[in-house]
Amino acid sequence: MYKSDHNSWGLIAKIFHWGVAVFVIMQMSFGINLHFMEFSPFKGMLINNHKIFGTAILLLVILRLGWRFSNPKPSNKEVPMIHRIASGVIHVLLYLLIIWLPIQGMLLTWTGGYDVAILGLFTLPRLIGENLAFYEELKGFHYTSTLILLFTFLIHLAGGLYHRYIDGDKYGIWKRMSFKKRS
Ligand code: HEM
Ligand code: HEM
Repeated sequence: MYKSDHNSWGLIAKIFHWGVAVFVIMQMSFGINLHFMEFSPFKGMLINNHKIFGTAILLLVILRLGWRFSNPKPSNKEVPMIHRIASGVIHVLLYLLIIWLPIQGMLLTWTGGYDVAILGLFTLPRLIGENLAFYEELKGFHYTSTLILLFTFLIHLAGGLYHRYIDGDKYGIWKRMSFKKRS
């Protein structure tokens, strides 16, 4: 039940998936909102929360990947090859982006001359010095990467909804990630 098997994702993998999904969707929305805000003490406070949430995402993804590789993955044998390849590429891209974005955010914070504290509690040593010109460049990159993540996520979401509502979930792809008991 807790561990994944060849038929379904286990409870822990599902909690990781949906927990990270909620955090990442919130982080993208708040981040994109930050992009359009003028600097103010209120924005400073939002950036602080954004950093706490962002480092929580990085921690969760590291734990999630550890769990993922210590469990079997549900089998995809009946799923057509083209779906398997497309979903595999999207899953790898999603993982890469949700690791790369928090790392980028940390580099961004250091080049801005600030510290990064994991969950706002444990300050990390600065791996790169203050560099305000690079800060502006990285900020643009951080924003573009978020748009790429958003686009990748929307393809993933469309794939999930396709299986659920158009395909009648005939391969059980939706069911094996859902919390509903399998019938
Ligand atoms: C709310 C929208 C979402 C829905 C409806 C959804 C749906 C699903 C479903 C049904 C699966 C199972 C696919 C399978 O077993 O082959 C899955 C897997 C996966 N999802 Fe999502 N998902 C959502 C959000 C996200 C987000 C925001 C991320 C990350 C940014 C994400 C990353 C993944 C990854 C990486 C897998 C593959 C599992 C693994 O290999 O560890 N999902 N998703
Ligand atoms: C999945 C994780 C993350 C996403 C999707 C994300 C997304 C974004 C977006 C869209 C912006 C607005 C950029 C702009 O103003 O053009 C932003 C700003 C920022 N992010 Fe992130 N971020 C993430 C993680 C992090 C982390 C972990 C940190 C640092 C620990 C961080 C630090 C910052 C900072 C300092 C800014 C403000 C830049 C400014 O307005 O001066 N981010 N983020």
